[in-house]
Amino acid sequence: MAKVIKLGFLGCGNIGGGVYHLLTEMHDEILKRENIDIQIKSALVKSIAEARTDIPKDIMTESADDVLTDPSIDIICEFMGGEQPAASFMQRALENGKTVVTANKMALALNWHKLQAAASAHGAGLYYEASVGGVIPVIRSLTVSLDADEIDQVMGIVNGTTNYILTQMSQQGRSYADVLAEAQKLGLAEPNPTADVEGYDAAYKLSILSSIAFHTRVTYQKIHREGITNISPDDIAYGREMGYTLKLLAIGKRAADSIEVRVHPTFLPNEHPLARVDGSLNAIYIHGRYCQDMMLQGRGAGDKPTASAICGDILYAATHMDNPTVPSFANTAEPDDAITFTDNWVCRYFIRLDAADTPGVLGSVASAFSAKSISIASLLQRPAADGRAQIILITHEASECAVQDALATLNPEIVRVESMIRVES
Ligand code: HSE
Repeated sequence: MAKVIKLGFLGCGNIGGGVYHLLTEMHDEILKRENIDIQIKSALVKSIAEARTDIPKDIMTESADDVLTDPSIDIICEFMGGEQPAASFMQRALENGKTVVTANKMALALNWHKLQAAASAHGAGLYYEASVGGVIPVIRSLTVSLDADEIDQVMGIVNGTTNYILTQMSQQGRSYADVLAEAQKLGLAEPNPTADVEGYDAAYKLSILSSIAFHTRVTYQKIHREGITNISPDDIAYGREMGYTLKLLAIGKRAADSIEVRVHPTFLPNEHPLARVDGSLNAIYIHGRYCQDMMLQGRGAGDKPTASAICGDILYAATHMDNPTVPSFANTAEPDDAITFTDNWVCRYFIRLDAADTPGVLGSVASAFSAKSISIASLLQRPAADGRAQIILITHEASECAVQDALATLNPEIVRVESMIRVES
């Protein structure tokens, strides 16, 4: 006899629809492979009248209670997006002993400790593979395959919208505003792009990724976040001339009891594996004491890839109903006291200055850096209009505070700081 597993959907838009279609199309194959009969019992929608027409109306409801309190439902699949009411619905489901599958990085990053506590207390499973990197199996890689290792670095392109925009800017020399407008017209960027372009989406994902990788809670609030809205095609072009490609990276590094977590535009050497991940693709580079270097790449968004990851979680949950998985770290509201989070990380820096092209100006720039013990690794100067010059330099490794201090000592009437972009290798 096949094991019957009944699902309740919270939300049934793009992602819910993708999951519905995968489970319908693969139903018989899953039954054959796993001897599990997956049935979609109900789906919460805002309005049945306005709901998508490719899914039977008779499974739809406008009442969350119909899904959350139905004793026949085994697994609640959350596809609502946003923090609330998704997080409180998931919490209610877990408190009722229902296993939850979600792709909602925001609700998870901000409420994970509460959800995990509810899952543990009520013997329910909580699965979220699709919350970071879409179809890329990075959560399971870190929590299962690499669980015995000591991971010291995760570095990811975890937002497809910004990777698409930066790739277009890079390949076509176009401005940020121009590429964003086109991406919105093509449906590749949201009408309100803030969550993507200001790095919020990547920061939620980094909170999840680094917590798992470093086996300690890394709250969203600890993450330094900058978006791509101030990037100019000049930065990208000069960086390229010096051998670097610009990406919006989510970076987590751990050394002993110190962690740095940051999301910002980053130059990578052209030969770095992440530098070649273009368009809307996502990729996550991992370094560990034993695994050394590895990279996972795939589609970070889209109904089909996301549905693939979610349905993987559903099947995993269905086959582990008596023994649900919990992550192997204490997921507390606040980070562990023994861990220090630093904003004074060390990396290299790309700096673009607009300077008066007169004697002594380059010397004053060099002195400002040398006074903070910052060594310049390479330098480019280009004439600009009105007797001015663009000075572009890349430093050797330096601390963030030293670089900020050095830039603050430059006289803005003579040397204007146009951009400061971190460089990783
Ligand atoms: N908006 C995200 C992106 C996909 O552009 O990658 C969902 O996390």
